[in-house]
Amino acid sequence: MKFFVDTADVAAIAELNDLGMVDGVTTNPSLILKSGRDIIEVTREICGIVSGPVSAEVVSLKAEDMIAEGRKLAEIAQNIAVKVPLTWDGLKTCKVLTGEGFMVNVTLCFSTNQALLAAKAGATFISPFIGRLDDINLDGLELISDIRQVYDNYGFDTQILAASIRTANHVTQCALIGADVITAPPAVIKGLASHVLTEKGLDQFMQDWAKTGQKII
Ligand code: E4P
Repeated sequence: MKFFVDTADVAAIAELNDLGMVDGVTTNPSLILKSGRDIIEVTREICGIVSGPVSAEVVSLKAEDMIAEGRKLAEIAQNIAVKVPLTWDGLKTCKVLTGEGFMVNVTLCFSTNQALLAAKAGATFISPFIGRLDDINLDGLELISDIRQVYDNYGFDTQILAASIRTANHVTQCALIGADVITAPPAVIKGLASHVLTEKGLDQFMQDWAKTGQKII
């Protein structure tokens, strides 16, 4: 399973990338706002750090305008995946841009039928949002599982990019279900290393080591 990092924070991306934890990056208008940076400038900088797909999202609502924005975003670097919303205009944009050879990430997916449409429109990635479904008492992980089954039933190549990941359990379950990619904020990815028994065990080892009075170096 590939790990994408869901942020436009260049320092956080670089830190995780140095550890080999970053297979790609996803951004969205809210994350660009949070970064306080110009979209083209920050996206170019991210593409200079990460060689895998970097999603940059269009902000128009009409296909014609989305296509123009997508082409402009795709000029930033070879590894741009143009992110479009799951609307008819977004699907139209997906079809056109994938036809031109660009990677397209169809975002804001909340149903299996939406994922089916994105695959038929040739999407490179489909982004079902787990956390936002959980927020309204629906089962985000069940959606990942259903899309996996439908895509496998028909041999669709579209990669399932599980998004809106909020917890370590989301990551585990996505891996078990067989999501192709997860995108998570840096804090969630870093948190995967934590376990209460690791901390407890390390604390005990440190106490016992101090009692030996020894040094390795
Ligand atoms: C995905 O591409 C989105 O940027 C992101 O995962 C949304 O996550 P959120 O629901 O935590 O904002």
